[in-house]
Amino acid sequence: MASRTINLTDRVYKYLVDHSVRDQPVLKALRAETAKLPLSMMQISAEQGQFMALLVQLIGARRTIEVGTFTGYSALVVAQALPPGGKVIACDVSEEFTSIARRYWKKAKVDGKIDLRLAPATQTLDRLLAADGTARFDFAFIDADKNNYDAYYERCLKLVRRGGLIAIDNVLWGGEVANPKAKDKDTRAIRALNKKLKGDRRVAISMVPIGDGLTLARKL
Ligand SMILES: C[S@@+](CC[C@H](N)C(=O)[O-])C[C@H]1O[C@@H](n2cnc3c(N)ncnc32)[C@H](O)[C@@H]1O
Repeated sequence: MASRTINLTDRVYKYLVDHSVRDQPVLKALRAETAKLPLSMMQISAEQGQFMALLVQLIGARRTIEVGTFTGYSALVVAQALPPGGKVIACDVSEEFTSIARRYWKKAKVDGKIDLRLAPATQTLDRLLAADGTARFDFAFIDADKNNYDAYYERCLKLVRRGGLIAIDNVLWGGEVANPKAKDKDTRAIRALNKKLKGDRRVAISMVPIGDGLTLARKL
């Protein structure tokens, strides 16, 4: 058989986490509080957060966008990875979820780096384009309503500079993208974007099997 990505059994997964995740009390506490919510599975995993923080540092990001903030975990890890003066423009529509986020950003002392915009994300991204123009950001993370993924991708592609990175979450959608019986709207939207990205010559890509699948798209 050709080389392939390892199958992560529970034992191997535990090993990966035990031997790589460098936890902090504030991150642990945010995961524990989020775990009590019915929609807790929307939060990215600890190892994905650490991976994204590393990416942000590797590309020397300063100005970043997040589409889908929830209780604030991904914005927190990205903000921690940014240099002083770095920014996360965090887009969400939920006052309820993001009130938890704000508490933890303050605890972690990164609240000054995060600018939360409570509005439909397409509106916020359009406003950023109108106010700042194109190519003004280094990194974007897309993790909100799946139906709008393509709209978010196209806007982020304009907002990010050449050599900047767009990370798109849930691209494997719990495996549903590969299930021919799955025909719901969200699965179809993710499949369509995955197909488009494979042939999109505006970016270099890698689909990384971390969390629920994360596609990295570097703007060329
Ligand atoms: C998967 S969660 C984000 C998880 C987050 N990145 C984390 O690390 O915990 C998706 C979020 O997108 C938000 N959302 C849904 N529709 C939206 C829209 N049209 N515009 C902006 N945010 C939206 C939801 O309120 C929810 O908080």
